[in-house]
Amino acid sequence: MSSIAEPLIKYLENLQSQGQTHVNIDDDARSILREFFIRAKTGKPSKPAKSPAKTPAAPSAAAAKQAKDPTPQPLTDDSPVETPTESTTSVTATGNTKAEKIASLKKQAGSWAPARSLGTLRQTMVFSTGNPDADVMLVGEAPGFDEERLMEPFVGKAGQKLDGILTAMGIDRKSTYISNIVKFRPQMPNQTTNNRKPTPAEMAACMPFIQAEVDIVAPKVIIALGGTAAQALLASNDPVAKMRGQFHQFAGIPVRVTYHPSYILHNEATSEKRKLWEDMLSVMDLLGMPISDKQQAYFLPKS
Ligand code: URA
Repeated sequence: MSSIAEPLIKYLENLQSQGQTHVNIDDDARSILREFFIRAKTGKPSKPAKSPAKTPAAPSAAAAKQAKDPTPQPLTDDSPVETPTESTTSVTATGNTKAEKIASLKKQAGSWAPARSLGTLRQTMVFSTGNPDADVMLVGEAPGFDEERLMEPFVGKAGQKLDGILTAMGIDRKSTYISNIVKFRPQMPNQTTNNRKPTPAEMAACMPFIQAEVDIVAPKVIIALGGTAAQALLASNDPVAKMRGQFHQFAGIPVRVTYHPSYILHNEATSEKRKLWEDMLSVMDLLGMPISDKQQAYFLPKS
């Protein structure tokens, strides 16, 4: 990103670290931000707009980060390159109960223009699963092959690992609310069962949903599963190893960052399992759950 944008990014990060989630911007500021984004993405100045650009009223910190580190991954040379100018538009849920409000978000997500217009996400929308009144909300990065097939987050191998972790904590999966930052499986050329990480543009486009879901569910704690989810929620570039081990905040709610269950599936080292487990013990502690001696000792070296 150009050095011109650096002070702005620092200023927004500073506001965010003080708990501010929105800033008001006027039309001039909007055009400047749009120009930054287009230059970062294409390396060229934008073409003069035919009509006033439709841009969000309040850029989120994640969108500012995206402007700082845009890594567009076009699938083919001719795949559409759209700037997600509406990516920070907030969504409005209708309904009286939490379940009705989540259903209203789900209905809007399927045809969400900022995500669909990127042209890099597959068609099937996978929203969330579980209890909209949950104390524990788990957030992953994006659906994969199994999740797309069953239209439910975390139902493949990583999901089975997650279920095992929840069971070890004494928590029933159905009592939690499980969602992903990105609501569609990221597309790849000649894709079969292979999955890829969502890009910053894909995450920024879907961020309004996770923000709205957190507002509605209002859980006591959020568990960010893996670096991608944590970086999007916390607008950080830090690796999981640096973010885990403490509580962060998202919209005033404590966030515990931990390893993605698929990392644990691929890394059988007991020391890594213990780190994830220690994150879960902290969550149990925060929730005032009883912790047995047996639970306390999981994955500790045998003496
Ligand atoms: N990985 C994720 O991050 N989310 C899913 O839903 C499945 C696997």
